[in-house]
Amino acid sequence: MKGIVLAGGYGSRLHPITLAVSKQLLPVNDKPLIYYPLSALMLADVRDILIIALPDDIPQLRRLLGDGSHLGISLTYAEQPVPNGLAQAFLTGAEHIGDDSVALVLGDNIFHGNGFYDLLDAHSRDIEGCVLFGYPVTDPERYGVGEVDETGRLLSLAEKPEKPRSNLAITGLYLYDNDVVEIARGIRPSARGELEITDVNRVYLEQDRAKLVTFGRGFAWLDAGTPQSLLQAGQYVQTLEDRQGVRIACLEEVALRMGFIDADACHRLGAKLSRSGYGEYVMAVASEMSP
Ligand code: TTP
Repeated sequence: MKGIVLAGGYGSRLHPITLAVSKQLLPVNDKPLIYYPLSALMLADVRDILIIALPDDIPQLRRLLGDGSHLGISLTYAEQPVPNGLAQAFLTGAEHIGDDSVALVLGDNIFHGNGFYDLLDAHSRDIEGCVLFGYPVTDPERYGVGEVDETGRLLSLAEKPEKPRSNLAITGLYLYDNDVVEIARGIRPSARGELEITDVNRVYLEQDRAKLVTFGRGFAWLDAGTPQSLLQAGQYVQTLEDRQGVRIACLEEVALRMGFIDADACHRLGAKLSRSGYGEYVMAVASEMSP
């Protein structure tokens, strides 16, 4: 399975913070925002990942993450000159996807909770159709909303409905079979001029090939799109990390635990950052897991 992190967008709700820096590079407690969605793909065992971003932001993203080889993954970059909608990812990324299935994650989405790895493991194999992830919210009218039957089959989809048929918001993590490229090529821009991912998902729904997996209680889905939610995300991560002494979305740790790199390599990565608590943590994890 290939991966795409969609890290374009103007981040206009965060202006002026994002006038000169990509939203995805802003700090969420101890690490840049993009670490969180990237770690979600790595946990799904995706090792070949395309990062799509505005042309001006690619040099900084590349400076941060490089070609991924230090993490045992491959990272490549593609430009999205204008943020014309989430579904554009499948056109920009068509060559990268090739004849594989694909996991798309939005660059400002944070997923955290017990059982996340198992959920990804269970649903990312042999994908037939699409797999969406739903999160119960109190204000579904602000989101894409999905209705699901007891077997997990998606029954309806609505974008920011006035009268939501469920409380399940569709989160920014999507798994698709290879048909997604052709489906995205076939949809027309919406009234906003964007290629909407809901329109892609609706095609799968009409073909009765869409699943909606629900994140349970105790799971956190956060986005960092506004000053308030960015700060809240940072506070959430800080509370858990300080309290438990483990770090969320530490890419070096994820790479080590997934078997993408060995303990020695992980330790060397930590040593390069050893003046920070993050670097110390990476070294400690590597020592602990050293054979
Ligand atoms: P949004 O939060 O919808 O858009 P944005 O990041 O531009 O922010 P704002 O609404 O404040 O202007 O985007 C969600 C994520 O998807 C975010 O990480 C940016 C990314 N994105 C793209 O990469 N390309 C796009 O065309 C769009 C619409 C979003």
